[in-house]
Amino acid sequence: MKYLDRLKKIVTGFLPGQDKSAVKNEAAFASSVSGLPNVVVLATGGTIAGRQIDGGARYQAGELSVEALLGAVPAVRGMANITSEQVASIGSQDMDETLWFELARRVNELLARKDVDGVIITHGTDTLEETAWFLDLVVSSDKPVVLVGAMRPASAVGADGPANLFDAVVVATSPDSAARGVLVAMNGNVFEARDVTKVSTTAVQAFAAPNFGPLGQLHDGRVFYWRSSGRAAQRKASFALAGLESLPLVGIVYGHADAPLLPVTALVDAQYRGIVYAGVGNGNIHSKVLDALAAAARQGVVVVRSSRVAAGSTMRDVELDDTRHGFVAAGTLNPQKARVLLQLALTRTQNAGEIQQLFDYS
Ligand code: SIN
Repeated sequence: MKYLDRLKKIVTGFLPGQDKSAVKNEAAFASSVSGLPNVVVLATGGTIAGRQIDGGARYQAGELSVEALLGAVPAVRGMANITSEQVASIGSQDMDETLWFELARRVNELLARKDVDGVIITHGTDTLEETAWFLDLVVSSDKPVVLVGAMRPASAVGADGPANLFDAVVVATSPDSAARGVLVAMNGNVFEARDVTKVSTTAVQAFAAPNFGPLGQLHDGRVFYWRSSGRAAQRKASFALAGLESLPLVGIVYGHADAPLLPVTALVDAQYRGIVYAGVGNGNIHSKVLDALAAAARQGVVVVRSSRVAAGSTMRDVELDDTRHGFVAAGTLNPQKARVLLQLALTRTQNAGEIQQLFDYS
């Protein structure tokens, strides 16, 4: 190998010209230390694997390999037997359902194995909450699944990725993390997938759970849970992906003053099976748009009312007559989470009443 190529491989984990998405290692714990938990890290890219361009603010997400990320936190090798797989190397703005299916199937396959105790997924922060929620609804294991990202690229001064990855290993290896649904470890907090959302485009403290707060916090290599994730334990909405290759089309329409009809009619004309309306306040809808959505619902499009407001619940039949219009109220799910649940719900039923039940018990 040429000197420059060798140098690039040391820094990024990849060879020049190598197809990053094709670099996969089978999870095997052949040289494992007995007594340590076995954890598989699935890498998808993101800022946690980002590299600055010319040392400035600009950077490219998904540049570093999972081996390079793990190499920055050598301490985790003493906490778990860790193997890794490079599932993708993307900025999470490019996350799609094909990759969701691939991740979900791999996670279910790994967690069904006796020799795998937990899975960590490194992910861009932009759509991390949607992937976490999708996996929460389709992963059928009580073993920990932990998503982790970073706000600063790996090459930045004060990069937060190594500390977050260390925390993710702490969470994935803690017996207290079992049966809590899919978890997110970011900046010293651990969140449940249902409520966590990105609240800052730039700050290291980028994630919050606006309705219920974090499940716990991390200090000095330990995770302390302050409450249980009651919803994950009681949940009736869980889905199997067997036989599915894609998800029904569901769009989000953003509400605002003087909102036009066009986005709603465009989605109906494009044969979307569901519309999530990110309404104002308690999921309220401009009267013109309300008529278009009610017409869509009469045609069989499932309309879910959510809210563009960061916290609180979109309540059924309060300011709007959901029962009369045939709408579904999203409760505490934000629009992007409501979209994920509606896509999965539509694989089971088109009936708005049954879908309301899935929202009420998700
Ligand atoms: C991304 O979501 O891939 C880019 C932003 C980030 O990871 O923070």
